[in-house]
Amino acid sequence: MEKITKITPTEFDIMDEIKSRWSPRAFDDVPLSESEVKQLLEAGRWASSSYNQQPWRIIYGLKGDAVYERILSCLIPFNQDWAKNAQALFITAFKKTNKDGEPYYHAMHDLGLFMGNVVIQANHNGIAAHHMGGLDQEKAHQEFDFSEDFEVATAVAFGRYGGAVESLPEGLQEQELEQERSRMSITDFAFNGNFESK
Ligand SMILES: Cc1cc2nc3c(=O)[nH]c(=O)nc-3n(C[C@H](O)[C@H](O)[C@H](O)COP(=O)(O)O)c2cc1C
Repeated sequence: MEKITKITPTEFDIMDEIKSRWSPRAFDDVPLSESEVKQLLEAGRWASSSYNQQPWRIIYGLKGDAVYERILSCLIPFNQDWAKNAQALFITAFKKTNKDGEPYYHAMHDLGLFMGNVVIQANHNGIAAHHMGGLDQEKAHQEFDFSEDFEVATAVAFGRYGGAVESLPEGLQEQELEQERSRMSITDFAFNGNFESK
């Protein structure tokens, strides 16, 4: 299957691992091994976090195992329709209280740094990741027996780039084939001075 590559119109030159990343909904049907997934978790493990508290927790399932099916059952139907082709699925969660038992304001930030490392390592290895906010967080919390001081954040689908676009529901095929990615301009979100409302 020919791999889709996207045009990423950068304003400055950046490393290829970041530039070539995108979030497919079709994945190659070559399985991911547990050690490939553990390597991604290793990359996440070395993210920085507030006071090194490492608030991230991950449930992972590999296609064919029971955990995978349990994660899939927590996704909203829109995401189930395409994520069922992924080779690995994550539920991500974070600790809501810090070392002093107070609200851990930066916990979701730190989970984001963790996942940033994971997706860049994945891309380096030819593995694509697609984050999902579309899941039943409460259901996932119960399903995987999280304790009260943890909150489920997202699910993530993984698989090698190069999946068959035809495997997707018709409505999603066009989006998968869109050629150019887009972002706000740097001048719209970064200010060498006061905040500007744009
Ligand atoms: C926290 C988060 C939640 C997202 N939720 C969904 C989702 O539920 N379903 C989906 O198809 N894509 C979801 N996405 C994917 C985004 O739509 C996608 O990352 C964005 O359009 C930018 O595209 P790119 O990752 O290919 O650059 C989510 C992404 C993030 C980071």
